[in-house]
Amino acid sequence: MATTSFEFPPNFRWGTSTSSYQVEGNLTNNDWWAAEQAGGYVYQNQTAGQACDWWNRAEEDFDRMAEMSQNAHRLSIEWSRVEPSPGVWDEDALARYREMLAGLRRRGVEPMVTLHHFTNPLWLTEQGGWENEAVVGWFERYTRKVVSALGDLTSLWCTVNEPDVMIAQGYSLGRFPPGKRDLSAALRAAVNVVRAHAAAYHAIHALAPHARVGIAKHMMVWQPWRPWLPNDHLATGLLEHMFNRLPLMMVTEGIMRVPGQRSLLMPECANTLDWLGVNYYQRFRVRLNLASSESLPVESQTRPGMLTGPGDWGEIHPRGVFTTLRKLWRRYRLPMVITENGIPDAHDQHRPNFIVEHVHQVWQAIARKIPVWGYYFWSLVDNFEWTEGYNPSFRFGLIGVDFDTQARTMRRSGQLYAAIAEQGGLTPEIVEEYTPGLAPQLFRL
Ligand code: FCB
Repeated sequence: MATTSFEFPPNFRWGTSTSSYQVEGNLTNNDWWAAEQAGGYVYQNQTAGQACDWWNRAEEDFDRMAEMSQNAHRLSIEWSRVEPSPGVWDEDALARYREMLAGLRRRGVEPMVTLHHFTNPLWLTEQGGWENEAVVGWFERYTRKVVSALGDLTSLWCTVNEPDVMIAQGYSLGRFPPGKRDLSAALRAAVNVVRAHAAAYHAIHALAPHARVGIAKHMMVWQPWRPWLPNDHLATGLLEHMFNRLPLMMVTEGIMRVPGQRSLLMPECANTLDWLGVNYYQRFRVRLNLASSESLPVESQTRPGMLTGPGDWGEIHPRGVFTTLRKLWRRYRLPMVITENGIPDAHDQHRPNFIVEHVHQVWQAIARKIPVWGYYFWSLVDNFEWTEGYNPSFRFGLIGVDFDTQARTMRRSGQLYAAIAEQGGLTPEIVEEYTPGLAPQLFRL
């Protein structure tokens, strides 16, 4: 038996994350499908198509999770499937989700259910999407239906995935549908997303008193481009406030404070997190750019010489998961979970190191008594990566997927993650075998 040098608590969740549109296949009733038809959003105008065919064969990948010693999985329910038109429910779809959750449980994999992961039913989009305040009631109605149907199969509910990313990309940067670049539309939509989250939080607790409800918040690490320049600190502070802090202020304190605007009180949204989910990926350097054509006068970049992801992915910065957890714990005192963490890396060149270094930093947080109860890697299998579609540079899976044949190939990082989950932490043997270059640094050999 190996000595576990960075041992995690015995009930720690070792899992992976996925989302409906990225893996299920043949979804044609939501705004992403419509955006693909219109063109201009996705790499080479690709469509999600069959994706990983989970609607038909998720169980084959559930088997792989179990073989890889995973004890948890985060997946999402597709709103456009469950409620194809307003107030009309697809009971067969709910039955399939029941089958999936039961299948995970049978394999010893605890499901976490996300209610909203970027995609919106077409009928919602046609009625103004997140800018229409009626969405709050519609989301609550959908939540009630799903929790009534599936509430006995899970107690872990994640209301909305990355409301920040959905709003920034869809309403401010124009890269996700509805493709707007309009800060006031973004703020209107943000208020409605947070109100919808809060309504869902209360509805879930009313229906399932033992449920534990959170969100998945994308946390960026931003640092001033030129640390000696006050302007760059100002720009960094602005992004930190608008992206990292504002959504959490709304769901913890029930206040929206935007510089230059009157504060909005939303008392019904205060204290609506039982836990905080952290999606952590990258770091950017930020500077003030008053000539920027974006809705905020800032520009972000990577520093030459740093390891970066492809395209404008940003810098790979493992320490950032620790500093983020520490900052959030000091500010909110909520139990936390890493709901996503991963790297686009088709050839698995950097993923093994990425996993070991990030898991080590999560351990550092736990060792300092910061309560983190799980780590869900993004992702189990390669899948449809939003605006990057099936761009071969944007492969996130522990398991590779051939999208022509649906064949799966376990990557070395998949074997590594299985070993970590099996041992419940990082042992010298695991590090020596998969990432020998990191052994001296981690174990001071
Ligand atoms: C996150 C998304 C997730 C996936 C990863 C790579 O922002 O929540 O769906 O695309 O990025």
